Parts: sequence; C-alpha cells; structure tokens
Amino acid sequence: MTKKKEENMQWLLENFGYIDSLTAIDETGRIIVKQRFNPRYTEEENRTHNIWAVGKNLLDVFPSISYENSSLMRAISTGKIVYNERQTVWNHLGGKVVTKNLTIPIISRGNIVGAVELSKDITHIENRIPEKKLPTQHDKPLNGAKYVLSDIITRNKSMEEIKKSIVQIANSRSSVLVYGETGTGKELVVSSIHNSGYRKNKPFIALNCAALPENILEGLLFGSRKGAFTGAENKKGIFEEANGGTIYLDEINSMPMALQAKLLRVLQEKTVMPLGASKSIDVDVRVIASTNQTVDELLESKAIREDLLYRLNTISISIPPLRDRIEDIEILVEYFIKKYNEEFEKNVKGLDSSALSFLMDNEWKGNVRELEHVIEAAMNMVESSRMIELENLPAYLTMASPPDDRIEGLSEENEISLTDAMEAYEKRLIINALSQSRWKIVDAAKKLKIPRTSLNYKMEKYGIKKDGNSSY
Ligand SMILES: Nc1ncnc2c1ncn2[C@@H]1O[C@H](COP(=O)(O)OP(=O)(O)OP(=O)(O)O)[C@@H](O)[C@H]1O
Ligand SMILES: [Mg+2]
Repeated sequence: MTKKKEENMQWLLENFGYIDSLTAIDETGRIIVKQRFNPRYTEEENRTHNIWAVGKNLLDVFPSISYENSSLMRAISTGKIVYNERQTVWNHLGGKVVTKNLTIPIISRGNIVGAVELSKDITHIENRIPEKKLPTQHDKPLNGAKYVLSDIITRNKSMEEIKKSIVQIANSRSSVLVYGETGTGKELVVSSIHNSGYRKNKPFIALNCAALPENILEGLLFGSRKGAFTGAENKKGIFEEANGGTIYLDEINSMPMALQAKLLRVLQEKTVMPLGASKSIDVDVRVIASTNQTVDELLESKAIREDLLYRLNTISISIPPLRDRIEDIEILVEYFIKKYNEEFEKNVKGLDSSALSFLMDNEWKGNVRELEHVIEAAMNMVESSRMIELENLPAYLTMASPPDDRIEGLSEENEISLTDAMEAYEKRLIINALSQSRWKIVDAAKKLKIPRTSLNYKMEKYGIKKDGNSSY
C-alpha cells in the first residue's frame, strides 16, 4: 500500500469508528439507504431525516451537489473508490455541512449498480480553522477540471506543440478528439483546454463512457422528464448541467452505437432532447472526447460511427507515449519527487544517475501514470535527505519478469519438477540482480534481501560468474 493510501486508511480507522452517516444510492442517484446518526442533531431529527431522504434523488436532498463535485456520483461514473475526500455541501435547509468521505462503488456482475458512502462530519473542526488557513485551490477555477496548462510538465517538442495548440483552440467551440495511450495525460490536456478559455468559469463534466451501462449513460447524458418511464423524475442531463462549459467523454469508443447516433444529433443541432421530453433544449456545450485507439484503429474496429468520428475529430490531438519522449523522464521525476516530498513531508534529494538511466531505458507501458507510481513507491523506500537509488525502485520494475517459458528448461513440452523450476527462476533473479548492481555482490545481496554469504553460496551452486554464464 502506498504511504498516502496508508495514511488515508489510518485516518479512516481512527475516524470511522465513529462515522456520522452512511448513504447508499442506486445507479440513478436515488438514495436507497440513509443512516445518519450524527450527534450534532437529536436522535429524532436524525430519524426523521433518514426517513425523508430515502427514495429521493441525492441531487434533490443536497441541492448544491452536482455530478462533478459529488463523490458518490463520481464513484458511480468512474467505478473507482474515492478515498477520504473532503466535501462541502449545503443541505436542503441551507445549512453548510463539511464531511470527509470514503465512497465505494457497488459492482454487480461487472456493472456499477450504485455506491455507498461513509461520512464523517467535520464541520465543527473546519469552523475552528481560521479562514485564511483553509486549503486553497491555488489559481485553479473550481469547475471540475482539475488541471491547468502549467500542470503539463514537458521538455519534449511535440508536447510543447500540444501546449501551444491548447492555447490556440481553447476559445473555439469545435469538438476535439484526444488520442493517447493510458497514462499519457489525456485528462490533463482536456482539463487544460477547458481552463485556458472563456469557458473556465463554467462547468466541466467528465464522463467515462466505458464505465456505465447504456440506459444509465443515456439518462446521464441527455436527462429525463417526469413520465418518460416508470419512476422517471425531472432530471437534467450533463448537456444541460454543463451549459456554457465543456463535457469530457472519456473512452468514447466504448459508447454504445445507439447513443453515438444521439450524440451526433446533439453535436449537429446544438440541442438536446431529454428522455420523455416534448421539446428540445438549446445547449452551448463544447464536447471533448478521448480514446486510446488511433483514428485508423477506430475506423478498422468500427467501434465508433464514422460520421461521429469525423465530427469529433474537427480538432485532433495525439499525445505521444512516454517511451517516445524520454527527455521528459528526468523533468517529470524531479516534479514528482517535489510533489511527494511535500505530501510525505520528506526531503528526498533526487534520483541518482544509474536509477535515472534505468528509468530512461524502461518501456513505460503505463506511461506518465506508471512513472509517477514508481516515484511514489520509491519515495516510500528511501530515507529523507537521500537520493533515490536503483535499489529503492519497486522490485517489479528492476527484477526479472515472472517465470515463463523463456526460462531454461521450462516449457510446456518439457515437464520439469517444481524444484527445478524454482531453481531456474532463482538463478534468473540472481543474475538480474547482479547485472543491475554491476556485479557488486554486496549491492546485489541487498537488492535480493538475502545475506551476502547466501548469495555467494548460491552463485557457486549455480555456477554464476561475471563473464561465464554461458549456461544462461
Ligand atoms: N506531462 C505531465 N506532467 C505532469 N503530470 C502528468 C503528465 N502527464 C500525465 N501526468 C500525470 O499522470 C497521471 C495520468 O494522467 P491522465 O489521467 O491525464 O492520463 P490519461 O491519459 O487520462 O490516462 P487513462 O487513459 O488511463 O485515463 C496523472 O496523475 C497526471 O497528473
Ligand atoms: Mg483518463
């Protein structure tokens, strides 16, 4: 577990022993369980509130909540746990409530069917903090778009071109299609487009098209009117919610075909027709979509309607993978070390040259996100005021890959005993550790977390010598 998660868990263990409220919603946002036992209210008030809230939509109980600032709604739309998030809401009586939440999506047979949230009321603690000490959002607009242009760290030519084009296109209304492998920074680019233009004071709403079943996605996108189907409420879709702002449709290639057709109509006509509505509503929304398939791949796989693809691709941005911009590795590493020094209250000095060259040779399938995780993990391993060295990097990166049929004697046709397989694997790990430690036995033993004498013994046993490993 990372240090941050550990700290979050610690906080939760200490505080959720006396949580103040549990809320569960279904996939439409309807409250199905409400258990508030907040000592700030009388038992009777809590009981009445619980009965009143069940069956209502979360957005009606807390009018200040929207799709983009609600951790429950976010857990539903992303399918990911939201850890320890601070949230300020105004209840329907106008009272301000500040909570810290742990929010967990409920997934059944691969579908998100709801979410449950545990909350701790911290209003009284917050009120004791002088206003100026409240955490500020720096210069970032509070619109749901997390990043601004200066958050994109790079010294790569193509990325610098992308940054320039973000500024140029920020004030246009044309749709944008952003392509990039996972972790390359698509969300960074999309948020920056929103925050660099006149829409920055308007909402930014992100929706992951792969995370939701079709009927829910449809309701979220276009909204519904009372009577559209049994139990349907008047509910704004995100096109209405985001009016004047931007909608980010992530993983657009996973959007069901029927919805793609509807989306195309909205883009062409600039109006939206909620489910069950008798007339359409004019909307001024910029749509930015992203995919991790190239346009050619999208055309080939037919995952997206061609007409929609061309419509979205009016402006296209293609983010290069990290392995094609290794000049970014050093500057990103510095940036992440600074970030985690602040977060972990450490003073790690940097990364030594062998660790850096190791990182520069890595393949980075998970791109910048993976690099950030590697640095975060290393920062947990290294003592404050030291440099990150090779041995501080996570073992999965520096050690051999798991045993597979490339290991001597281990293949499907060739049955070997468990002992032989284990020995082959052990030998491979030892050779890897030695070569990464430039054959310094002390360093390799440290890396393998075994005594130096054991390493000597094993090297002798397997006949491992610096230049004499013809058997491997
Ligand atoms: N150029 C960059 N500078 C600083 N941080 C970056 C950069 N690119 C990516 N990151 C960081 O890497 C992580 C992943 O970025 P982001 O979420 O934008 O990727 P993504 O392309 O949307 O990935 P996915 O397809 O998996 O959703 C984030 O924590 C982001 O802050
Ligand atoms: Mg993303």
